[in-house]
Amino acid sequence: MNIVEQIRQLCQEKNAIIMAHYYQRPEIQDVADFVGDSLALAQQAAKTDADIIVMCGVHFMAETAKILCPDKKVLIPAPEAGCSLADSCKATDLAAWKVAHPDHMVVSYVNTSAAVKALTDVVVTSSNALKIVKQLPEDQPILFGPDQNLGGYINRMTGRKMDLWNGGCHVHARFSEEALLQLKEQYPNAKVLAHPECKQSILQHADVIGSTQALLNYAIANSPSPIANNQFIVATESGILHEMQKACPEVEFIAVPAEGGGCNECEYMRMCTLQNLYDCLQNESNEIHVDESIAKDAIRPIQRMLEMS
Ligand code: 13P
Ligand code: SF4
Repeated sequence: MNIVEQIRQLCQEKNAIIMAHYYQRPEIQDVADFVGDSLALAQQAAKTDADIIVMCGVHFMAETAKILCPDKKVLIPAPEAGCSLADSCKATDLAAWKVAHPDHMVVSYVNTSAAVKALTDVVVTSSNALKIVKQLPEDQPILFGPDQNLGGYINRMTGRKMDLWNGGCHVHARFSEEALLQLKEQYPNAKVLAHPECKQSILQHADVIGSTQALLNYAIANSPSPIANNQFIVATESGILHEMQKACPEVEFIAVPAEGGGCNECEYMRMCTLQNLYDCLQNESNEIHVDESIAKDAIRPIQRMLEMS
């Protein structure tokens, strides 16, 4: 048996489900039971009847699954897989921000630690942030964190003036506007798809702005696309190209490079491999634990998000 077959057999024996984010390595997406964006992973975790959830993603995703499923075993093949965005907002700093703005409610992106979620009124993901903020009373002042690009995008779309935390994702922040403009010249009919974690200098050139799932859905709904010459320029982590290419084989997806020509891969997302996935499942190692008192407060804003999505 090859390693993929062994992983699938272990899943059956242990009643385990493998969940993977779209930014995972192609071979991890292919072996997973479920591939999705941050919102879909949380929704799937909330309803699975598996005994073990193996989260092929970054730490906050496994933590979110554990908060939603405290009685299940949640494992992460690469426990060192952090997130620059989640790291940009410490719970103690958020607590101080709240003290300075006592009349504000806190809306936090799901890319945060459990301790930050515990201080939050409602969690959002890039799939539902706009929809959820629109449901909040217009006169309600809001602290939004930690992604200032997503927050700025929501402010522009809603006309709100949410106070924004000064955080960001290093992968989405480094896309090069110059390279994007060159690609637009090279592929003049191509549609530009961008994730709202990108800077405004990138978003201003986008035809479609949305979460990884929304960008994938757009590509599927618009393929084949003779108007766009069957070409889409994609400004998000390049892992999503695997699923896009599988779903739309007739389309050419062109990834926007980072500034200086660097790569647009999230090194944290790439830490999960077939080998550490196999080891984790076989040994039931790298189990995620969330402090009970933190989990008790963190589940409320996550459930609120699921209700408002
Ligand atoms: P979504 O999964 O909501 O598209 O967010 C992308 C991301 O950066 C996850 O870490
Ligand atoms: Fe975090 Fe950015 Fe990597 Fe997503 S792509 S896990 S936001 S560092």
